Order: sequence, then structure tokens, then C-alpha cells
Amino acid sequence: MLNAPHTVPVAGPRHVAIIMDGNGRWAQARGRPRLFGHHAGARRVREVVEACPGLGVKYLTVFAFSTENWKRTQAEVAGLMSLFRRYIIKETRTLKENGIRVRFIGDRVRLDAKLIALMDALEEETKNNDLVHLTVALNYGGRDEVARATKRLARDVAEGRLRPEDVGEETLPKYLDTRVLPDPDLVIRTSGEARISNFLLWQSAYSEYEFIDTLWPDFTAGEFERLCRNFGTRERRFGAVLA
Ligand code: FPP
Repeated sequence: MLNAPHTVPVAGPRHVAIIMDGNGRWAQARGRPRLFGHHAGARRVREVVEACPGLGVKYLTVFAFSTENWKRTQAEVAGLMSLFRRYIIKETRTLKENGIRVRFIGDRVRLDAKLIALMDALEEETKNNDLVHLTVALNYGGRDEVARATKRLARDVAEGRLRPEDVGEETLPKYLDTRVLPDPDLVIRTSGEARISNFLLWQSAYSEYEFIDTLWPDFTAGEFERLCRNFGTRERRFGAVLA
């Protein structure tokens, strides 16, 4: 017997998550420093966000900085942090006026106070928007997120707010950074690497994946549309057997 709640009608993805890879190689191919590629990549984010409403994409989550990215040179890390600060300052008004609600996921502890203040302000400024929900993963790692969630869950158990026997599959997501978001339907990774690199590990259990060769700074709204339409032709069974 078909388990109806575990099937969905064929439609475009409601939540798309993107691993924006290839900025460094794109810059190097042009004889430019890696940060030049990150700046070009940041401009692509806007183009993709703008395409979302027309494609029915309500949630877009982008991987901007991973817990592993601290291993890059100090100059690249500092350049990326500066880029994030400038991006928030420059884009806040446009995001606010265009109905984009911005959230950040990831661990804030290692981020500098100025950046955290800008992130908080952007979340606050856009909290009443609902056209597109843009989530930026910053100092984010899937395992780190699960570990932090588990710590909070364990604290609730220790302090008597949660009973171990009540912990089930649906419990942990309530403690994840993404607790207010639906799971991603489609995860895209650019630049030819076929890895998920610690991105949304729990949440992408049933996601479709698209690994494409395009380097992130070359990614266009047209390609985004093609991938979203391609998703609409796939059959998602979530482990069930369709009649
Ligand atoms: C991966 O390319 C990209 C990053 C680590 C940073 C992503 C950041 C942006 C696209 C810019 C800012 C985003 C926002 C939301 C403002 P890579 O450096 O790993 O490239 P490579 O694999 O070619 O070295």
C-alpha cells in the first residue's frame, strides 16, 4: 500500500541548497588572486536569489564558509570575512525592499563581533519578509551542527524538559540551526566535485543532487532554471514504491 505522505507530486524544488564551489580556480584561470573569484561569486548569489520567485523556489540556502575553511591562508580568511561584512552592508536595503528574509546558520563563536552584529541586524531588518527565505551558511559544518544540537538536546534531558524515551527522528531537527526550514529538495554543487563536504548532512537525507562542472562565478540564472526544471521531471519516492 502506498504511503501517501511519503510521496509528492512532480513539481519544482521548493528549497534549493547550493555549494558554491570553484571561485578560486575561476580566479586562478584568469591570473587573479583567489579573492577576485570570491567577489565574482558573491555577485552570482544576487542573480540566483532574483530568479527564485519565478521558479517557485521559496527557500535558498547557500554555503558561504565552512568550519573547514579556517584552514585557508589568513589572508583569504580575512578577505572572505571582509567580503561578508561589505556584502551585508551593501545588500541590506535591496534585500529588505525585495521581500527577501535572510537567516544565518552555523556557529557564530569564531566570527568577529562586528560581523555578528551585522548578521543580527540583517536578520532583524528582514524578519517580516516572506517572498524568498535566503539562508547563508557561515562557519557551518553539518557534523558541528549535529554536535551542537545534541548538546542542547542533552541539556534538555539533563534538566528534565525531555525524556530519553521521547527522542525520535523528529526530535533532533528541532535542535538544528535549520529548525524553521524545510529540508532541501535539491542540492547543487558547482565546479565538478561530487562531494557534499559536510553540508546539511541530516537535512539532505532525501534530497536530489546535481553536480555540475560550471565554476560558481560562471553560474547563471539560466543554468539555475535548467536544474530546477530538471528536478521537476524526476520522480521522488522517499523509499516508497509508486503505484
Ligand atoms: C568555494 O570556492 C567558495 C567559498 C569557500 C566561498 C563562497 C563565498 C562566496 C560565493 C561569496 C560570498 C557569498 C555570500 C553569500 C556573500 P573555492 O575557493 O573553494 O574554489 P576552489 O575550489 O576553486 O579553490
